[in-house]
Amino acid sequence: MAGFFARLEKRLERLVRSSPALERLARGLHLRSLLHAACSHRQELVLGRRLGPDAATTATAVPTGFSILGRGEVEDVRGFFLAVNPGQVDSLAGLYDYGCRVLFMFVAGQPAGYIWYVDAQQERPLPELAQFRIALTGRDVYLFNFYVSPAARGSQQATKLLRLALGRLGAQRYEQAYGCVERGNVPARWLYSSTGWTSLREVSVWTFLSCLRFAGGRWFVNPKVLRPWRPSVPMFDYIPLAGAQAFRMEAPRLPAR
Ligand SMILES: CC(C)(COP(=O)(O)OP(=O)(O)OC[C@H]1O[C@@H](n2cnc3c(N)ncnc32)[C@H](O)[C@@H]1OP(=O)(O)O)[C@@H](O)C(=O)NCCC(=O)NCCS
Repeated sequence: MAGFFARLEKRLERLVRSSPALERLARGLHLRSLLHAACSHRQELVLGRRLGPDAATTATAVPTGFSILGRGEVEDVRGFFLAVNPGQVDSLAGLYDYGCRVLFMFVAGQPAGYIWYVDAQQERPLPELAQFRIALTGRDVYLFNFYVSPAARGSQQATKLLRLALGRLGAQRYEQAYGCVERGNVPARWLYSSTGWTSLREVSVWTFLSCLRFAGGRWFVNPKVLRPWRPSVPMFDYIPLAGAQAFRMEAPRLPAR
């Protein structure tokens, strides 16, 4: 299916390029952005990493604080989420309902970044896991929505936050961590490779008209399309059309130590 859409996109591009008149028309109509809105594609890498004492954090010289925020405390940093990721603000409480937790970073007392995680004890399967077909079992943990504010970037704060998260999770009962990164996200990929993650497989993600998504061989739907009359309900990234339980989920295999 993904191959079909990739071929279709290439054919359309060849067609447009075949005639200067068509190319001018395409440019005038902003065809590329129209096409992108109609159908966009990204390639995600599913990553894995074993956890253990080696993942422990090192002391930091910079005045940085980290805390795992409870449901009430996350409301205290709502302003930060609103500034950096407005789409997620209505979902904060909902993410807690799913059993997710957030490790938050403060630099000089100010919110500077976060990383969310969830384990196999999640209340309901996180839709994102279905898209990437990741099945979490006993001592697995999935890290997602990793973010560091632009002001704190480029100074190894992101590396510290990630190492600290891995250290804390390794010191708890977790043995394997999973995550995903977009193929084209160079800083994030660099960061993951320098902190010991391995790429396990690739997943093609196609999105149509911001309504439907085809990922990992299955169809998903934007919940906003299903419940447009209830916009305040916490919404999540595309949910499975056929119900998460019906999916073939895989426990990703990490290479032996
Ligand atoms: C991804 C993100 C957390 C990285 O933050 P950061 O402050 O750049 O990270 P760090 O400074 O700790 O380290 C990043 C590494 O990538 C390298 N890097 C950064 N930008 C790069 C680029 N464009 N090309 C190559 N390498 C790059 C840095 O040199 C550094 O490498 P080093 O450790 O060898 O010095 C931050 O850019 C971010 O929040 N982005 C938006 C959200 C996002 O993409 N999250 C990831 C989701 S999977």
